[in-house]
Amino acid sequence: MKFLIKKRMLRVISFLLLGFIIIQFIQPHIENPPVTGDIAAPLEVKIVLKKACFDCHSNETQLRWFDRISPVSWIVAKDIEAGRSAVNFSEWNNLPVAQQKDKFWQIVNFAISGVMPLKQYTRMHPAAKLSEGDQAILKNYVSGMASPGTYDTSKTMEAFEQFNQWQKGVGNTSIPVASNGVAYDPDYKNWQSISTTDAFSNGTMRVIVGNAVAIKAIKENNIRHWPDGSVLAKIQWDQLADKEGNIYPGKFNQVEFMVKDSRKYAATEGWGWARFKTIDLVPDDKDARFASKCISCHRPVKDLDHVFTFPVKL
Ligand code: HEC
Ligand code: HEC
Repeated sequence: MKFLIKKRMLRVISFLLLGFIIIQFIQPHIENPPVTGDIAAPLEVKIVLKKACFDCHSNETQLRWFDRISPVSWIVAKDIEAGRSAVNFSEWNNLPVAQQKDKFWQIVNFAISGVMPLKQYTRMHPAAKLSEGDQAILKNYVSGMASPGTYDTSKTMEAFEQFNQWQKGVGNTSIPVASNGVAYDPDYKNWQSISTTDAFSNGTMRVIVGNAVAIKAIKENNIRHWPDGSVLAKIQWDQLADKEGNIYPGKFNQVEFMVKDSRKYAATEGWGWARFKTIDLVPDDKDARFASKCISCHRPVKDLDHVFTFPVKL
């Protein structure tokens, strides 16, 4: 009896082994196409990107021996293909400059929020993990890209005036409601800020604030799943610079809300999404699928309940 079981186990093991050997002959074709437009970034930026991103986002992929073993190699090949088509630092300079700026802004956000490099990759390639110093290098680089704006006294005064109007609540005094039922909440000006003002995007300044429920959740470290009733708002102004290079918020552009209600907004991943534009607070809901646009960009952080911002310790 014992002998029989042993024999059977041996047979299963040899079958598996044979299968494993056979699939080694099914190897994906991973090639490095020529580099046609290498990113022209400062050396320290390049080092960070090479270390953490180039294996999937360039034509200079370096495979380790374990990347070449099936079935791991199949996953690796898929990541490289999808990665290169999303961002390719070897063809970067072929993109228009404006697009480079936009993409790099997204890159920095993905790097800071820990979405990239992919977790399944850093598990096998721990050296590719980004340190805080690495993140700071990327962030610094992108803030240098943001043009501080030319100094123009008349425009600056006008924008200051517009900022004052926003502060005073001049403009639309009704409460607009977006088509998915998310209402503009004028109280957000009194909410607590949950992130430092990161002025590293293209000429805009933004602040992220949360209502009392959200603030309580942060204090209790209960933000893996933000409790129902949490509301986060992202406010965005034009960024102004004076002659000395100091920056200020100018014209109010928009406010975006994420309202947590896991039942009411089950169809949009537990959050109600809305954007109100300009001082007239026009809901940006012309396109019926507007919420899906918000979600598709926030989906990479779905494990953080779709929230990018790491709230500062309150
Ligand atoms: C193991 C492979 C891998 C590594 C390493 C990696 N990425 Fe990615 N990245 C991907 C894949 C795959 C996608 C496409 C995801 C999709 O389309 O759903 C992607 C998408 C992205 C996107 C989204 C682009 C878009 O237009 O949607 C950005 C930005 C990005 N990666 C930045 C980075 C940065 C920055 C690094 C290094 C810090 C990095 N990635 C490292 C595999 C990787
Ligand atoms: C192009 C990608 C993109 C799209 C589209 C997008 N967001 Fe965001 N959103 C971000 C990023 C990145 C952040 C992180 C904060 C920052 O750096 O601006 C963010 C932050 C936020 C925040 C603050 C909470 C957090 O996640 O950090 C709210 C609220 C928000 N977005 C609402 C919306 C709404 C509502 C829409 C659709 C009308 C939307 N967003 C569309 C990328 C996007």
